[in-house]
This record gives sequence, C-alpha cells and structure tokens, in this order.
Amino acid sequence: MRVLKKRLDILSDVANSKNNNKTIGFVPTMGALHKGHLALVERALKENDTVIVSVFVNPTQFNNAEDLVNYPRTLDTDVELLSKLSEEIIIFAPTPKEVYGDQMSTVNYNFNGLENQMEGKFRPGHFDGVGTVLKHFFEIVSPNKAYFGEKDFQQLQIVKKLVTIEKLSVQIIGCPIYREDTGLALSSRNKRLTTQQLEAAPLIYAILKEVQDNFGTKSVTTLTKWVSEQFEKNDTLELEYFEIAKISDLKSIKRKQKNMKYRAFIAVFAGKIRLIDNIALN
Ligand code: PAF
Repeated sequence: MRVLKKRLDILSDVANSKNNNKTIGFVPTMGALHKGHLALVERALKENDTVIVSVFVNPTQFNNAEDLVNYPRTLDTDVELLSKLSEEIIIFAPTPKEVYGDQMSTVNYNFNGLENQMEGKFRPGHFDGVGTVLKHFFEIVSPNKAYFGEKDFQQLQIVKKLVTIEKLSVQIIGCPIYREDTGLALSSRNKRLTTQQLEAAPLIYAILKEVQDNFGTKSVTTLTKWVSEQFEKNDTLELEYFEIAKISDLKSIKRKQKNMKYRAFIAVFAGKIRLIDNIALN
C-alpha cells in the first residue's frame, strides 16, 4: 500500500500510469473513512486500472473553525480499511502546503447560482473551498473518472459545473447515499455523535422518507410545515433548513410544476455536529 504525502511523488505515479495507458479513478475524501467512502472506492476499483484516494481535511472549505479542529483525523485506520479492498490503491495524504503552496487562497467561483443555495447560504465560502481544492487535485491526479457520494448532492452538482468551467476532461460519477440499517446516512461526522444523538439521528431519514411518500398528494407548504413541527418536538435535533428544490438549479420551490424533478434537502444540528441528507422525490 502506497501512502504518498508529496505532490512530486504522486505526480510521478500518475505519469507512470498514463505512460502505461492505465486509466485513473479518483476518490477525493477528507478521511475518517466509512462504508460510504469504501463503496465509492470499490466502484472505482471496478472501473479503472489505477485508483487514487486522497485523504485531506481541506481547511478552505470550513466556514467554522471549531468544525475544522474537531473533524476526525484517522489516517492509520483509513489506510488499513483501504488496504483490505486492494493493496494497489494509492493514497495521497498531503499537507496543505503540498496542495496550495505557501498561500492558501481560494478561487471565487460562479457556479451559475448553485453555490448560493442551501449549503452555500449556511456555509459562506464553502463551495469556493471545495472547488479550489478539487481543481488542484484534478490537476495533480489527472483522473479519467472521479467518484462522489450523493449525500452531498449539491456538491456533486457543483463539481460537475466545476469540470465545465475549468474545461477538465474528468468524468464525474455520482453514487447513491450509503445508509445505516436505521436509515442514518453515513458521514464522518457521525463518529462524533453521542449515544443519545446517534439514537435520535435516524429521525432525519424517517422524515425525508415520509416527505417522499407524501410528495404526490401534499403541498410543499404543508410538507415543509410538518417537517418543522417534527423537529420542534425533538429535544436532541435542531433543524437548520429543510427545502424542496429543483434538481436542475437547486432553487427551493413553493409549488410543484409538471415535468420537473425535485429533491428534498435537510440540514440538522445534533449539539454542535451538523448532519445533512437528501432524497429524490419524483
Ligand atoms: O466531500 C468531501 O469529503 C469533500 O468536500 C471533498 C470532495 C473531499 C473536497 O475536500
């Protein structure tokens, strides 16, 4: 198992693969790997000759300093988990300096307004950080395909736009949300939940499911009000936002229209830990 920390080392591995006409699959992560990440890596292993997984807690995408400090960092376990899938995986675990150079600056992106919805509203600058770090990684890794989970659905749409803006040739592949048996979407942040919070958190998916089941017959206003009420009754979870939005531009809607695809999006606090989830509605 190769764990590379230097840009020059990974560049040389990438050049090697390219010279041997090998395709490269890339799974960018911030580490603290769970089964959701591993499913992305397994798919990448099936579809590519070389697989590179980056493990990098990207400082520029955190709008909350405390969240950045407390984000779980478990490189040794991550390496162990990946080596069980394949010893051939290349792990790229750089320092910020290797990625950004001396100045950790971000590009100010215009993702056609996608960046101003939901996560963008509540986490100012977040998507500039995501876009910038991925631009660096795509340049270093030159992947043929890159894999992202649909849990961060807005991120997935933004990454597709980034590829168009930066004229990159990588194919972006979205993969289904991986859930616990309880329905809770897997997230590295789940590791920080207390037992009580872990017990409460499956409510998030239960609510999304109920919204999905009732989307055909109930109005958006009724569903949105119902969701708020469910969280008002709950002492452990606090709703930050719930929105039903068009998939095309991620703008939230008040009324359904024919022939449009919608998804419900939610962000919830369990104490200081922020959890997000989403579900297709039609
Ligand atoms: O989804 C994540 O873990 C991060 O946003 C990503 C894509 C690895 C960029 O830092």
